[in-house]
Amino acid sequence: MATLTLQSLGKSFGTTAAVTGVDLVVGDGELVCLLGPSGSGKSTVLRMVGGFEGPTAGRVLIDGQDVTHLPPERRPTSMMFQSHALWSHMTVAGNIGFGLRLRGLSRADVAQRVDAALDTVGLPGYGPRRTDQLSGGQAQRVALARSLVLEPKILLLDEPFASLDQHLRERLREEVRDLQKRLRITMVFVTHGQDEALALADRIVVMDRGRVQQADRPDRLYRAPATPFVAGFIGQMNLIAGEVAGGRFVQGAMVLAAPVADGPALLAVRPEALAVSFGTGAGRLHRVTDFGSHAVAEIDLPEGTRVKAHLPEAPDAAPGMPVTVTPRRHTLYRDDRVLWVSDTAPGAAPVAVDA
Ligand SMILES: Nc1ncnc2c1ncn2[C@@H]1O[C@H](COP(=O)(O)OP(=O)(O)OP(=O)(O)O)[C@@H](O)[C@H]1O
Ligand SMILES: [Mg+2]
Repeated sequence: MATLTLQSLGKSFGTTAAVTGVDLVVGDGELVCLLGPSGSGKSTVLRMVGGFEGPTAGRVLIDGQDVTHLPPERRPTSMMFQSHALWSHMTVAGNIGFGLRLRGLSRADVAQRVDAALDTVGLPGYGPRRTDQLSGGQAQRVALARSLVLEPKILLLDEPFASLDQHLRERLREEVRDLQKRLRITMVFVTHGQDEALALADRIVVMDRGRVQQADRPDRLYRAPATPFVAGFIGQMNLIAGEVAGGRFVQGAMVLAAPVADGPALLAVRPEALAVSFGTGAGRLHRVTDFGSHAVAEIDLPEGTRVKAHLPEAPDAAPGMPVTVTPRRHTLYRDDRVLWVSDTAPGAAPVAVDA
């Protein structure tokens, strides 16, 4: 059991700022996912926690103790790397049991724990295999077993399931989740799969260009994204740039109440929060896709933005038909921050006038 604290953590490689000002507390037994696009600094943060990369700013604390300058083997952490090199001169069992043997466990204890770990990752009986006789996905599972078997206080996993097929990924995800809860391991899990993060995490840390954009519960990220980046990154979002003037957000024919200071603003509306009526309006229907359970209408607004709206069923409407869109719930952003959230509940009177 352990608490992880990152304070103003930063890392520059020469003039490249890979990670900037990361503040984060991961609670005892909490599973936190780092989520973000390629190059956003996820692996660099994880490597600094594991002790494989020295920060150029800030501190890493585990249970309140400063471990910033401790080598990996003196930290109560275990890390599975994004590119997991197995030792090719050892068998699968040799790889998994290596850390246990270093700790002086008896041969029988090592064998028993290695077997249990192989069961966990769905590779029973693979102990005697050579590592060059494994598929990519099998090698990945062996690397996972090698991290799990040490039962670390803090487990660091860098895209552990990236090259596995969907079915196996979902199974292992559940295994890891169960194990993490059972052993109450504090865990930091890097992924760039949104679904994976949503399925696994107690909290998700969304990163972009080396900075934390938002660290929050999965449902909060969806319902209350703190920045336009998070709004566009988690789920689908229509983002429409416009101006606020005299208490109204204006973009083309769209006018919304916005009791905030004048200036530029970015309007964010989920496709399911965009009401559509066909036959009149300045928008033009581009296309309708019928997904069976619902339909998606793509609509071109006069100023050039194409927005998506969810409909309960496919309308009887041809491309080019005039359309009015009305946000039922929306957020305005300015300077990367929330400016205003409409409080109009779904079904209540629309706040918009025409589009
Ligand atoms: N050893 C290094 N030397 C120089 N630059 C590096 C080094 N390691 C990482 N970087 C840079 O730091 C930034 C963050 O890299 P990092 O590997 O942390 O990203 P990531 O979020 O893990 O990406 P991915 O999803 O592709 O794995 C990138 O711009 C990367 O090029
Ligand atoms: Mg990475």
